[in-house]
Amino acid sequence: MLLNKINKLYAELISPDIENYDGSQNKAEFRDCIEYIDRRIREIDDKEIWFLEIGAYKGLWALAFNILCNENQKIPKYVTVTWISQDPNNQELLKTKKYYNDNGDFFELINADSTLKKSLRDVIAIKEFYHFVFIDGDHSFPSVMKDIKNYAPLASNLLIFHDINTKSCGVPKAIQKSGISLNIKISYGDVMGIGIQNCKISVPKPRKKIFGLF
Ligand SMILES: C[S@@+](CC[C@H](N)C(=O)[O-])C[C@H]1O[C@@H](n2cnc3c(N)ncnc32)[C@H](O)[C@@H]1O
Repeated sequence: MLLNKINKLYAELISPDIENYDGSQNKAEFRDCIEYIDRRIREIDDKEIWFLEIGAYKGLWALAFNILCNENQKIPKYVTVTWISQDPNNQELLKTKKYYNDNGDFFELINADSTLKKSLRDVIAIKEFYHFVFIDGDHSFPSVMKDIKNYAPLASNLLIFHDINTKSCGVPKAIQKSGISLNIKISYGDVMGIGIQNCKISVPKPRKKIFGLF
């Protein structure tokens, strides 16, 4: 049901390839992951839900996130750091941005190298913590290490990785080197694969003064 809606929108807006989303995702892994995110959205009390995607390609996750929020009567707030000037495929992302804008939804595209400190500053200037952080940018080991160092601490609910199985890229090694233990691994083969770490950051509440004898 959810997947059908996402596929319909993706096909209308981006491309008819809903079997592997133009090579960016394994359909079964993607389906399982969005079902999990859907469950987690329902557990969040906040009205606004924030999603940070490092490396967005054509906008699949942004579209899925928009639908997930609408289905749960939440307001989607989407931010991506995607270096669109170095990948012609990223032009499609502008259609997704337009879709958000046409619906009056927040979509911030930071068109820059995510590994730069300035990109991190720009992300934090928008929001200090994001319910969901999805790391899927440059897959070389040094870049994934930097993306983890910069953006993993911003995740308040879920930290998500793509390509946890793909040995030819730096993702599995960087996750391991960073000491991240994945709580959930969604995998239908020996390449791609989605890994999720459940995070428990609670924004500190102001302390009440307690009067009494101890
Ligand atoms: C694997 S694709 C992302 C797929 C996307 N998450 C999806 O599922 O549809 C990686 C994207 O990251 C972008 N990218 C590559 N290096 C980057 C960098 N250093 N900073 C930001 N984005 C980058 C590329 O333009 C590419 O579109």
